[in-house]
Amino acid sequence: MSVAEPIVLAVESSCDETAVAVVAGGRRILGQAIASQVALHAPTGGVVPEVAARAHLRWIVPALEETLATAGIGVDRVDAIAVTAGPGLAGSLLVGIAFAKGLAWVHGLPLVGVNHLEGHLYAAWLDPGDGAGGEPVPDFPVVALVVSGGHTFLVAMPDHLEYRLLGETVDDAAGEAFDKAGRLLGLPYPGGPAIARAAATATGPAVPLPRAWLGDSFDFSFSGLKTALRRVVEGELAALGRPPAEEGGLLPDERVAALAAGFQESVVEVLAVKTLRAARETGARTIVLGGGVASNESLRARLAAGAAGSGTRLVIPPPALCTDNGAMIGAAGHRRFLAGDRAGLDLDARPSWPLVRPAGAPATRRPPRRGAAARAYEASRAAEAGRR
Ligand code: KG4
Ligand code: ZN
Repeated sequence: MSVAEPIVLAVESSCDETAVAVVAGGRRILGQAIASQVALHAPTGGVVPEVAARAHLRWIVPALEETLATAGIGVDRVDAIAVTAGPGLAGSLLVGIAFAKGLAWVHGLPLVGVNHLEGHLYAAWLDPGDGAGGEPVPDFPVVALVVSGGHTFLVAMPDHLEYRLLGETVDDAAGEAFDKAGRLLGLPYPGGPAIARAAATATGPAVPLPRAWLGDSFDFSFSGLKTALRRVVEGELAALGRPPAEEGGLLPDERVAALAAGFQESVVEVLAVKTLRAARETGARTIVLGGGVASNESLRARLAAGAAGSGTRLVIPPPALCTDNGAMIGAAGHRRFLAGDRAGLDLDARPSWPLVRPAGAPATRRPPRRGAAARAYEASRAAEAGRR
């Protein structure tokens, strides 16, 4: 392998995207493919685990073939196989894990199990591939907000692979709240992008909805907001003599737009204010965002405005790298590979694998091994320092 730029082939199948990518040096995406199941799950308004697992089986080989074809390389050029081992849907994870094990075994390559949430964080270290190429990587200390369909939390990252949990949701994840609100408003699945689109069409003022600040903690709560939205929707449907939302009752488009705008404003304000305060209080040099909700334009704009002039850099991957993809697993897998993490062929799915261990548990990070891995680690740190 090239010492500074190991090539990682990554597999992601934790939820409803079958994704494969080849990533060099944890940063350059040489090729990737994402087979989305959005259309498959749209009729049920959510992911059906059995259906998802079968679709992964159907699409994983074509995703690998497309990835290698785009990258223009064979597996013989790869230095390690990384795969999402959790958290996620057990049946879906198992498809990717079994596939990755097969690849590692057949090609005699090391296997690295990656936490999906760590993948969302490390998407910020990927070259966004917009042609500019030379964007600096995030500078430590970092404060990172992960906002996905299943998770919402804020962590301080003093260095690579080191996390201190600052706060997390006490009920729904931000993406889950968007999805539920979308259903309530009769919008298509998934709710997040649909709410963003509806909000953008609002011509009047947004409907004011509550914000849960939870004192000065860095925790989040979205269930009260969802209930508040439900009350307004039910009240307005009843006043119009229409059936409840669950029975297909719909509000006029302009009301949907005003409510979507109010809902989005409430979620975005709480996420942005807490993230900016966390960055200030921890002395972060960079704010990093990851997860599907990080593709929300209103959240991105709000954080950009807040970070401007504060001396804190903001790194948000392009939307396609915020939602589930294989490249982010390649970026995190690269770090884990350099740190000496290796999985055996007994690697198992960990459907509720936490990113941050509870207080008192051993540190997440393992020191790099001696020899080639340690040299690759040092070379990559030096290269990174050169990009700052
Ligand atoms: O990270 P992700 O692709 O999958 C999980 O790991 O959960 O996140 C999916 C979530 C969904 O809940 C979706 O509604 C939300 O991200 N999402 C958005 C937007 N795009 C995706 N939420 C708000 N605004 C968006 N533009
Ligand atoms: Zn995800």
